[in-house]
Amino acid sequence: MTAAIGIDIGGTGIKGARLRVATGALLSERIKYPTPPGGHPGDVLECVRHMLDDLESSSDELVGVCFPAVVRHGVTMSAANVSPDWIGLPAERLFADSLDREVHFVNDADAAGFAESRLGAARNVAGLVIVVTLGTGIGTALISDGVLVPNAELGHLELDGADAEHRASNAAREREGLSFEEWGQRLTRYFGHLEMLFSPDLFVIGGGVSTQHAEFFHHISVSTPIKPAELFNNAGIVGSALLATLNH
Ligand code: BGC
Repeated sequence: MTAAIGIDIGGTGIKGARLRVATGALLSERIKYPTPPGGHPGDVLECVRHMLDDLESSSDELVGVCFPAVVRHGVTMSAANVSPDWIGLPAERLFADSLDREVHFVNDADAAGFAESRLGAARNVAGLVIVVTLGTGIGTALISDGVLVPNAELGHLELDGADAEHRASNAAREREGLSFEEWGQRLTRYFGHLEMLFSPDLFVIGGGVSTQHAEFFHHISVSTPIKPAELFNNAGIVGSALLATLNH
């Protein structure tokens, strides 16, 4: 039985658990800490260290971490809702050295999307799946016949003259007090644009608001089938651990 630890770093919270990689089943409780104010790398690292202590993790245990940024070869290249100190930081090496174990860093939407493709709503789907997480920002993952094409960053496409995530994320809906119908009109333009560019076989929508899919999916009018994510809050944790195991 292969077990690994998955950790999901976000702008407001850091979640982690030990899980069975083949099934995504949690083998520990799911621990959540608030993200330290400012989201500085050193503070986040200490928070992750506490989490590993809580999980009684030893240094031979594999750790996968997902993070709201472009991650190239273990270097965090951007930073959404966390400190700009992460930009250009060799985060994977820093965490591995400091925590004295093997650590793999990936983008948060890639982790969630990969988990959906292996164990969730996009399991066994042939062709191109685009997983879109609607939260504070918009995260996207491209999965082609089960292969992840990392760092897609399609939340930053232009929509109505602005960055799409500023117009169509769940945070934008809340900020502007949009009804689900009004939000659905923006999402129709956003998903329509993705459809025009990529001709996907399936969209999977994740992020906390996806639990309310019955309220807004029918307002998104595109030809591509749309499914809600199945792993909800655990998608990032599960995908991080899965990808860490595959890249081990
Ligand atoms: C970031 C992405 C991230 C997404 C969801 C965007 O602002 O650019 O890297 O996946 O937010 O957190």
